[in-house]
Amino acid sequence: MTAKFATLRLLDHPLIRQKLYYLRDRATGSPKFRMLVNELAALMVYEATRDLPLEEHPVATPLEETTGHIMTRPVTLIPILRAGLGMCEGILNLIPRARVGHIGLYRDHETFQPVRYYQKFPADIADSEIFVIDPMLATGGSAAAAVDEVKRAGGESIRFICLVAAPEGVRRLSEAHPDIPIYAAALDRELDENAYILPGLGDAGDRIYGTQ
Ligand code: PRP
Ligand code: URA
Repeated sequence: MTAKFATLRLLDHPLIRQKLYYLRDRATGSPKFRMLVNELAALMVYEATRDLPLEEHPVATPLEETTGHIMTRPVTLIPILRAGLGMCEGILNLIPRARVGHIGLYRDHETFQPVRYYQKFPADIADSEIFVIDPMLATGGSAAAAVDEVKRAGGESIRFICLVAAPEGVRRLSEAHPDIPIYAAALDRELDENAYILPGLGDAGDRIYGTQ
């Protein structure tokens, strides 16, 4: 946790920091960018799942009976479209049984307010451990709106995972949802006049999908 923001958990493992270095590099093209986003998402979810509840269960090894541990509550990923989708595969490689709900939001270019265009969540979202994912937390409008919808659908145990956060976004999300831990690989300096994160990594969706 950082002293400035009570709900922010900065994940600064050397592998995360190095992959973020290459992600920021403007010379990194879409294929490598996509791969790095997925690798970073997996490394981050490894940390963000550290306190998920486990239950003891008996298991028979080839040699004898013993007990092991399994996660009892289902995991639901909620990527914020488009860019959040780019983080899903990396997380599903680690948690193949996770369900994936979707929320489509884009930022209006003039007002920077999120506009919702799609939503489909699992029916039993209330009973699952929920990870709302998006590479970028800029003004925080999209993340706060997504968490609003997840809560409206009954979600209770919610975490937000992003790669790069701006102070403005962390402030807005933590004020709107002080119960939600925010996991980020970096807390950057500020937003520019177009609400892009500085130094940031540019437009994550465009770089993932090659649409710039
Ligand atoms: C980007 C990003 C977040 C949002 C962050 O999406 O992936 O969803 O902006 O900005 P905010 O914190 O100010 O809301 P964008 O709106 O560009 O849509 P896209 O993923 O479809 O490219
Ligand atoms: N969305 C992005 O993709 N990048 C930013 O820096 C801000 C919002």
